[in-house]
Amino acid sequence: PTVTPFTRALLIPPVLSPLLSTLTTDYYRMTIRPAQVEIFPGFRTDVLSYGGQFTGPTIRARAGRKIVITQTNGMSDPTAVHLHGGHVPPESDGHPMDTFDPGSSRVYTYPNRQAGATLWYHDHAHHLEAEHVYRGLAGFYTIKDDVEDRLRLPSGAHDVPLMFRDAQFDELGQLVYAMGGFRDRKTVLVNGRAQPFFRVKRRKYRFRLLNTCLDRDLNLTLGADGELVQIASDGGLLPAPVPATSVAVWPGERVEVVVDFTRYATGTQVVLVNDRGSEDSTRNVLRFDVVGDADDDESVIPATLRPLPDLGEPTVTRDVSFSMDLATGTFLLDGKTFDPTRVDQNVKLGTTELWRIHNPAGGPPIPHNMHLHLAQFQVVERDGLPVIGHEAGLKDTVTVRSGSNVSFKVRFDGYTGRYVYHCHLLEHSSMAMMAQMEITR
Ligand code: C2O
Ligand code: CU
Repeated sequence: PTVTPFTRALLIPPVLSPLLSTLTTDYYRMTIRPAQVEIFPGFRTDVLSYGGQFTGPTIRARAGRKIVITQTNGMSDPTAVHLHGGHVPPESDGHPMDTFDPGSSRVYTYPNRQAGATLWYHDHAHHLEAEHVYRGLAGFYTIKDDVEDRLRLPSGAHDVPLMFRDAQFDELGQLVYAMGGFRDRKTVLVNGRAQPFFRVKRRKYRFRLLNTCLDRDLNLTLGADGELVQIASDGGLLPAPVPATSVAVWPGERVEVVVDFTRYATGTQVVLVNDRGSEDSTRNVLRFDVVGDADDDESVIPATLRPLPDLGEPTVTRDVSFSMDLATGTFLLDGKTFDPTRVDQNVKLGTTELWRIHNPAGGPPIPHNMHLHLAQFQVVERDGLPVIGHEAGLKDTVTVRSGSNVSFKVRFDGYTGRYVYHCHLLEHSSMAMMAQMEITR
């Protein structure tokens, strides 16, 4: 099935309500289960879902308040739920081997002792994560804090999460999943719909952009005369807003932008274009319809947002490299595939380290995307040059193109235990392009 572009409204994922809130903690419950959703008018599509929602329900956290979520596995596969970007104890991290079986439940505890940021939760069961995320197991998890409240950025209905993902459908509207099938995934969905429209007033909006494609990178633009003001990256607010005409978002990454629609006249239709897409359905991903004046817009884009934390001077340097086994087509980290019994890096708690990630030229020119669990890092340089825009903020996922080297500083604080790091092109991590660090005292 196809859709007539921009004939259906953008869906905003529902916000999950706590079952119980105490002085310190909000308690939630969710069931991970198959569901049928209407992605195309008149077609029922089978998906996997958090609580029956194709874009998982948004969980709203407050820095300093704990969240406890009981997840029940109503699927026929094992699952693990990973809070991407979360600073969480190892038993709640959703380590790929720490799965729970069909019919059972698992309690995840998220301390939210971290700055406001856009996180997301997704399946991480080893070897199954790519297909599970593709079939629908992903949702937003946002953390707000006092610093952010004081900034008076657009909020409420003017703070909009946008999850972008690609998909392939058969004639009956069913999702087709094939490993390595990315060239055939010719539909980009935004919050679960293809080419939706979104009615906006002439005022400022905050958009939380998240790319959950398995391997498609996006470069989003409102055109040469449009403006996306970057305000946050994976780990939260940037030190200062950075205006841009286009924003690259790689799988796993979040970029937050403010768009001021007062620059457009009422009646203007502004298409958000993915200029990396080669057909209408992957290029013209969303349309903003400017429908009128705002009653009032008290939101602002302050000149300064939040200074970056001082991660300290690195005392340990590590080199990690991406490669491919040409004989088997397997992707490797430091020449190896994931072995859960092996510890690849021994890290001492409280240490600041310099990680140098290498994607040597020579093989097929495939970019990879480095993601660390537990910690937010700060990119020091890419190929000898400083990074700019949202990449200069706190990150947990960073792109390393073929023939390129990226170094970042990272400080390991808070928790000891085993955490993974991997390529966040999820088909690669599903193929075991993943390794493990153990943090000890
Ligand atoms: Cu979003 Cu280990 O992943
Ligand atoms: Cu990769």
